[in-house]
Amino acid sequence: MEKEKIIELLNEDLEDEHGAIIQYLIHAYAMGEGEMACEIEAIAREEMRHLDWLAENIVELGGVPSLKRGKMKLEGESVADWMRNDVSLEEGALAQYGEHIRAIDNPRIKRLLQRIRSDETAHHAAFQHFVEKAQKEGARDTRGIRRDRVTQILDWGIEHEYTVILQYLLHSYMSPNKEVKKEMEDQAINEMQHLGWLAEEMVDGGGSPTIEHIEVDQSASTADMLRADIKIEREVAAEYDRAAKESTDPGLKKLLIRIRDHEIYHAEVFSDLLKEEEQHG
Ligand SMILES: [Fe+2]
Ligand SMILES: [Fe+2]
Ligand SMILES: [Fe+2]
Repeated sequence: MEKEKIIELLNEDLEDEHGAIIQYLIHAYAMGEGEMACEIEAIAREEMRHLDWLAENIVELGGVPSLKRGKMKLEGESVADWMRNDVSLEEGALAQYGEHIRAIDNPRIKRLLQRIRSDETAHHAAFQHFVEKAQKEGARDTRGIRRDRVTQILDWGIEHEYTVILQYLLHSYMSPNKEVKKEMEDQAINEMQHLGWLAEEMVDGGGSPTIEHIEVDQSASTADMLRADIKIEREVAAEYDRAAKESTDPGLKKLLIRIRDHEIYHAEVFSDLLKEEEQHG
């Protein structure tokens, strides 16, 4: 099989992993605190590792990881319905990985997809169990309909965090600079924490998080990537600062200040990397 075709198939898998991550996170956040929500978040984290492995292999083959998100199944009235959707998403993944394992003759990629498929088999069983558990325990949607300045700030933050997660991951995959790669991956993980904190704050406060992103920087050179990343960090640090000062809820204020401080740190780390890149890159 030609490289281009393998890249195409791996990108299909990557897009579906992306869709699964967001679908599961939406479900976990909507359920609020609890054991099942934690287990679903853990499954989403495994899908993130899959996404990471797929992206690394796409780049190694000379491709560019897709930023598109695969289809999600978000309809359904009850948590049991959502868990049925998650079962069906895993069924789709199992079938697709099966096809791709048969079609791809590169032994290393085949082995990787088999490794991923074994996780999907476990996820499939876990979600089947969650359908019953949700029915038995009467698990419910804990999201509310609150819409005000606070939910507007949280929505903005979530949108920003989702955008930079994708941006830093893409930059870490595409930059040849090892130090930049590592730092971008670390900070993407930190932004995932921010996303989780903001979404949980939203649900606790009676709102409902929307998980969408805006345009992701796709610069070709490491220096341009870093310039775009520094710019966005400075802008959002200022915005989190404004939002924290405006906030009258002490818990929310503390959260926004903590995130702001991380963003200031990110801007400084990226600035150092840019200086080095401009000198030696
Ligand atoms: Fe899965
Ligand atoms: Fe952040
Ligand atoms: Fe940041």
